[in-house]
Amino acid sequence: MEHKIDSKTHLYGIFGNPIEHSLSPVLHNAVFKQLGMNSVYMAFCVESESLGLAFEGMRALGIKGVNITIPFKEDALNYLDEVPEDLDRLIGAVNTVVNKDGQLFGYNTDGPGFILALHEELSFRVEGKDVLVIGAGGAARAVVFALAKAGAERIFILNRTRERGEGLAEYTGGHFPETDIAYLESIQDLPPKKLDLVVNTTSCGMKGNTDLPLDWTLIQKPKAAYDLVYSPAQTPWLKEAGKLGIPHANGLGMLVNQAAIAFGLWTDKKEGVRGIMKEALSHWKT
Ligand SMILES: NC(=O)c1ccc[n+]([C@@H]2O[C@H](COP(=O)([O-])OP(=O)(O)OC[C@H]3O[C@@H](n4cnc5c(N)ncnc54)[C@H](OP(=O)(O)O)[C@@H]3O)[C@@H](O)[C@H]2O)c1
Repeated sequence: MEHKIDSKTHLYGIFGNPIEHSLSPVLHNAVFKQLGMNSVYMAFCVESESLGLAFEGMRALGIKGVNITIPFKEDALNYLDEVPEDLDRLIGAVNTVVNKDGQLFGYNTDGPGFILALHEELSFRVEGKDVLVIGAGGAARAVVFALAKAGAERIFILNRTRERGEGLAEYTGGHFPETDIAYLESIQDLPPKKLDLVVNTTSCGMKGNTDLPLDWTLIQKPKAAYDLVYSPAQTPWLKEAGKLGIPHANGLGMLVNQAAIAFGLWTDKKEGVRGIMKEALSHWKT
């Protein structure tokens, strides 16, 4: 299918810094092309002091929608007209902005994308489960809220920087009293019970960061492991999980799901979108 660009083309994009690593243009442009939509998706590297100008530009130029990535997911809230979902407001970070006639609406599709990936790739249902989340950054926030909303029984948070981990446990625990959310001072404080799931939300394992988020020998073998990192496709941590026979998945599924949910918010199109995005990624080499 020809991907035409003319004076009626709708513009979408992503604001972040750095942005060259982003796979979002590949995912969204593949769908526009395949569905014959007169739209294009571009990556914009925005300086921190220009974020407000970027959103003004979005309104002025009629850019239909953008994704927001590191480091702007929280700051973006300052420039939006509304964040319609209660949970997204609690999370305090957005990754998707919809422009409806000059009004900017923010959403966070990372959490739902993560829960869907657990179902699809690990046949994992969160309700009643005990989960260890490693990390307490922006992605961890979306993950912990999504797990609590989906009915996790207990969530343990482990993080290199204590204040950040404690803060996340206290903040989310305050909103989900029915889930036991606790910060672990050290992995030795984990109760001696087999965990259902361990999730890495740190950037350990990403190209250039060779640290392991957790030494598998320090805990009982969990029932499943999920790594938000997707580049490289198999981090050293997931390789070890594989050797131990722990069912595991990397963050590509979550990446595709959050993108497909964003695409639906912008265009109302859902049918076939994830399949096209997955196919586009199958040509991408880590
Ligand atoms: N698959 C997806 O769709 C998806 C979506 C969002 C994010 N991600 C990935 O998730 C990761 C985190 O993103 P983010 O937005 O949460 O970043 P962030 O806000 O910068 O948080 C980074 C987290 O990693 C921890 N960390 C970094 N280096 C570490 C190290 N060497 N040892 C121990 N902990 C370390 C940090 O601990 P401190 O608090 O101690 O600094 C913090 O908890 C990135 O790899 C990102 O690509 C994937």
